[in-house]
Amino acid sequence: MRKPVIAGNWKMYKLLGEAVDTALALKPLVANANHCEVLIAPVFVHLKTIADRLEGSNIKVAAQNCSTETKHSAHTGEVGADMIKDVGCSYVIIGHSERRQFYGETDESVNKKTKAALQFSLTTIVCVGEMLAERESGNAETVVKTQLVGALDGLTVSDMERIIIAYEPVWAIGTGQTATPGQAQEMHGFIRQTLAEMQGEEAAEKTRILYGGSVKAENIKDLMKEADIDGALVGGASLEAESFAKIVNYR
Ligand code: PGA
Repeated sequence: MRKPVIAGNWKMYKLLGEAVDTALALKPLVANANHCEVLIAPVFVHLKTIADRLEGSNIKVAAQNCSTETKHSAHTGEVGADMIKDVGCSYVIIGHSERRQFYGETDESVNKKTKAALQFSLTTIVCVGEMLAERESGNAETVVKTQLVGALDGLTVSDMERIIIAYEPVWAIGTGQTATPGQAQEMHGFIRQTLAEMQGEEAAEKTRILYGGSVKAENIKDLMKEADIDGALVGGASLEAESFAKIVNYR
């Protein structure tokens, strides 16, 4: 009943020409993937071009961030959620661990950005995940719960229809060290239980929870067998059309 989502996070990679080439190469390779939603998230300055080139296809476009601000105003360097929507995107990724680690993103700013995105009807992929030291000290669940509670503060059950959670253990991102399906399932189950406490069973059952961290063609199948894993947020392996298509077509 939860439609899987396979999302490619292109991070700060590719010039415009390469981004267009990859997007166009991906199109036929995933054209028959009706079992899941397929998304790619290029950098801001490529969004409009990529969205235009993918119009009418089954690949949707996501931004990698948005402003906390919702009014057109004096905020140099920021991009509003309505602007993202306006250029043809329907999704946004908020609170990726790289933004938390390197750009001062906090649970509070993640919450504000999530609300800004929802105000303009963007489906919002909220990222959570613990660092290695937090896992090793037995605090992974506490950290993830704090992030969830902070990110979703003040949201209603109907807001949850546009929320997707991405669990990305920081120690698994870009390291080649994937969480085992069992480790991922354990945390996904915990996330769903936490969502049920916050928003009720029904909303929790409907919410897609994606796994991210060194997802590849070789491990997607086993991850997707787990009951609470509803898709993947893919970095490195999404940069080439062929490898990302293999992940999309995992079945
Ligand atoms: P990775 O990145 O697949 O390269 O580990 C995942 C992410 O950061 O979303």
